[in-house]
Amino acid sequence: MTDSKKSPSKSVAKKIDAARRELKTATAPRTERQLLLCVDRKTAECASRSSMTTSWKYLKKRTKELKLSRVSGLWRVPCYCLGVCVGGPIAVVLPDNCWYGHCTPQVIERILKEHIIGGTVVSEYMISPKQLEK
Ligand code: FES
Repeated sequence: MTDSKKSPSKSVAKKIDAARRELKTATAPRTERQLLLCVDRKTAECASRSSMTTSWKYLKKRTKELKLSRVSGLWRVPCYCLGVCVGGPIAVVLPDNCWYGHCTPQVIERILKEHIIGGTVVSEYMISPKQLEK
């Protein structure tokens, strides 16, 4: 048996059980979609630090105003580099796997209203070929 196939120690198994219990009550598994926005201000390669900050603040404000939350089905997540590093701020809507570029507040507004609420991708700003199935 290799090390990777060994059972976890009792203390690790206890922590895993605690995480399983917590997951049952957490809201994350009930979200229908996640909207990840690159706010990697340390590298800031896909956009300037200020535009990342502006976009993230706008996303937080509008999701509150539109009552889009983990409980209602959308989990907005600030994240580090999404690996595109140009034409940002970059965002991705999961599980749709729709990637967006140039996510200014105006584009975020469209993503929220057209994609998240309306179910139609904002094709002008999509950088991935994936389309939503109708
Ligand atoms: S720094 Fe934003 S995608 Fe890499």
